[in-house]
Amino acid sequence: MDQEPLISPSPRDAEAVRDFFNGWNLYRRIVENDYLCHDSVRQALSGWLDGLERPFSFLDLGCGDAAFSSGILNGRAIASYTGMDLSPVALDLARGNARQIAAPVSLVHGDFVTEIGTLPASYDVIYLGLSLHHLSRPEKEFFFGELRRRTAPGGTLLVYDPILSPGEVRDVFMGRWVDHAKWTWKALTMEEIDGAVEHVTTADFPEEIGTLNRMAVSAGFRPAEVLFTDRSDFYALMAFRGE
Ligand SMILES: C[S@@+](CC[C@H](N)C(=O)[O-])C[C@H]1O[C@@H](n2cnc3c(N)ncnc32)[C@H](O)[C@@H]1O
Repeated sequence: MDQEPLISPSPRDAEAVRDFFNGWNLYRRIVENDYLCHDSVRQALSGWLDGLERPFSFLDLGCGDAAFSSGILNGRAIASYTGMDLSPVALDLARGNARQIAAPVSLVHGDFVTEIGTLPASYDVIYLGLSLHHLSRPEKEFFFGELRRRTAPGGTLLVYDPILSPGEVRDVFMGRWVDHAKWTWKALTMEEIDGAVEHVTTADFPEEIGTLNRMAVSAGFRPAEVLFTDRSDFYALMAFRGE
């Protein structure tokens, strides 16, 4: 299982990401208020899963407390559930939430960039929810290759992530995202919003769908079928099928 990472350490601050998500309560309140479009993504993802005909294995990378995926998988015929996350606090919560999944559950603590290669299987569905954007561009490129190697024949990678509009640069995205959060996240205090803004503006590196498509295609996926984009053009749910 000991595997040398194939890429050198990146400028990404994995500890800062882990520390933010160890304070899980703030993220949970953001999700409960649907500030990141989880309700619409839940609908789109559930509809897509309805089309799968046989019990499928499900790998949930950056699973957090697994509440979102467990809710979607509850009542479905699935073969296995594997969740992986950097945050031990989130994984403790995941142990409880994943009990509603009627399949063998495995929860793995670690950085998915380096640990995905240690997993013993390939998966019919790999779901990457709101976590790809923490990687630098070279890491994303490397990681798409790893994801392809872990996608079972006929399997699909599902990515829910913030996205840049075509031609948009990161600073412009951040400007409109911060304005949006400050104006519309009424259920949070200013301190909580400042905490979220600090995290997003320092740790998030969204890409255009076109850039993700280029990485995915060179790793051996088909270009994305876009299952959902929100009205403000902040988030998308994309399905990349293995060739
Ligand atoms: C925004 S939360 C998303 C949680 C859940 N997937 C959802 O959609 O609500 C991002 C999660 O990804 C985890 N994460 C971020 N980068 C990671 C990495 N490199 N390896 C493992 N987990 C990571 C964080 O700890 C956090 O729990």
